[in-house]
Amino acid sequence: MNPSTVAHAAIPICASEALVDGGDGIRFAVATRDGPAHGFVVRHRGTPHAYLNRCAHVGIELDWERGKFFDRSGLYLLCATHGAVYAPDTGRCAGGPCRGAGLRPIRIEERGGTIAWFPDASVRPPGLDVPAAAPPAIPPL
Ligand code: FES
Repeated sequence: MNPSTVAHAAIPICASEALVDGGDGIRFAVATRDGPAHGFVVRHRGTPHAYLNRCAHVGIELDWERGKFFDRSGLYLLCATHGAVYAPDTGRCAGGPCRGAGLRPIRIEERGGTIAWFPDASVRPPGLDVPAAAPPAIPPL
């Protein structure tokens, strides 16, 4: 079986009430092809959204102070390093040095008072290997 197609069960992150609209986000550990990393979840206009905690500019975590992902307005996600700004509902760059690149979304679900995330082919639970990306196809001569 191809390991990239293995379905994974939802992994709880937090209780729904722990996530305030426009407030602090909650980090959770993940494994990626580049090694251990974190995802984070925030609530925006009532809906939770989760992303890999990796800025599209340099690839470091967005929050200098743990869980502080929103800007002062509470309407945009802000990278504390150089000020890249992202739309919280899509992860798309909304300004600054991300220059059109976006955050990598992580699938989540809010049900029964719990928010949970779903691993996929390249974002896995900590301790699980993430398969290397397939090499690019070489066109025939
Ligand atoms: S690392 Fe995020 S804006 Fe530069």
